Amino acid sequence: MSILATLLLLVVVVLFHPFLEGAEQIAARNATVSKCSSRKRSAGELRGQICLKSCERNPLQCKHRQCLCDGACGLSCVLPDLRCPWPMAVDNAETRLAQGSNTFGNFMEVTCKPGFRMADGQKGSLSRCQGDKKWSFTAPCEDVSTPPSLCEPLPEIENGYHGDGPYRIGREVRYWCKFGYRLEGASTLLCQENQEWSQRVPICQPVRCPRPAPIAQGTVVTVDRFEYPVGTVIYYLCKREFYLDGPNRGVCLENGSWSQPPSCRARCPILARRSRVVYNGRKLWIDEIPEHQIHHGESITFFCRSQNKTCSFQAESQCFDGVLKLPPCYDEPTYLQYHLFPRRVVSEIPAC
Ligand SMILES: *[C@@H]1O[C@H](CO)[C@@H](O)[C@H](O)[C@H]1NC(C)=O
Ligand SMILES: *[C@@H]1O[C@H](CO)[C@@H](O)[C@H](O)[C@H]1NC(C)=O
Repeated sequence: MSILATLLLLVVVVLFHPFLEGAEQIAARNATVSKCSSRKRSAGELRGQICLKSCERNPLQCKHRQCLCDGACGLSCVLPDLRCPWPMAVDNAETRLAQGSNTFGNFMEVTCKPGFRMADGQKGSLSRCQGDKKWSFTAPCEDVSTPPSLCEPLPEIENGYHGDGPYRIGREVRYWCKFGYRLEGASTLLCQENQEWSQRVPICQPVRCPRPAPIAQGTVVTVDRFEYPVGTVIYYLCKREFYLDGPNRGVCLENGSWSQPPSCRARCPILARRSRVVYNGRKLWIDEIPEHQIHHGESITFFCRSQNKTCSFQAESQCFDGVLKLPPCYDEPTYLQYHLFPRRVVSEIPAC
């Protein structure tokens, strides 16, 4: 009895072996998919993948889509039922849907035809249906009977990256630098007919800002150096009585220049004395305003006489960097008007 059972089990295992293996493979793939990497822009770009809106920080921001793992793009807002092209022709290869479906996240098996191999020597590889409705890149199947015409592998560079091989003739390879570094030399190299690269390999030089320029009527607060790395923060202060117009901090930008500095704006002297004005909601004689000055950006309201001289109306003026223009309609009362008939000066007569 037990022999019969063992035999039966053996038959089942033999019959369903390919199926079991397939299911295991798929489960293994799903497991790797669930460990989603963070978005690597250059990694995605290298393979021509277009990354959809990222939802790594906030999965709820995908309104009509779902927050799913999209390979090197990381967690992205994806339409889960999108389809990649099928049937799919790949040069010198057979293609098959690994899970029988061409929807997002499923795999296509690319198997090289006899006599062909991928650059890494493999007979085939898997391609994933991406959020941009394209199959992920697989190395092409190459004819193994003729030796490949390749350029030398490109060296890694410090503080930068470049496109992956294989480096076949006609292939253009791009170099990038990390944040805070600037590429010096050619950014793309071409693998030429003679199997030599068209240019020398570029280098990534750190970007630095020069000493920040001083600002008029103010000071720049920083450690004094000859040059500063990208991201350095400096602070601006204005002299007493000057108003800081703009940000109080500056940053060394990625292109080696400082962010826009602020201006220190002067206070405005009030070039009138003999009438009242409205300042900060109060009607005051100009002598009551400290130092007869107002700050940059502040406004003051003057009184002007109507055409028939019987009543007054108001005219406002704003201080801008030391200059306060008196309204054209304002007439400064004379010394006699002010001292002998103070009740008749323009600010004291009835309003129109
Ligand atoms: C550097 O970048 C900033 C902001 O992107 C820009 O305003 C500024 O003009 C750039 N400076 C140079 C020298 O290119
Ligand atoms: C003088 O002009 C103002 C408006 O400009 C008007 O309200 C006022 O009635 C006028 N007064 C006389 C006496 O005409």
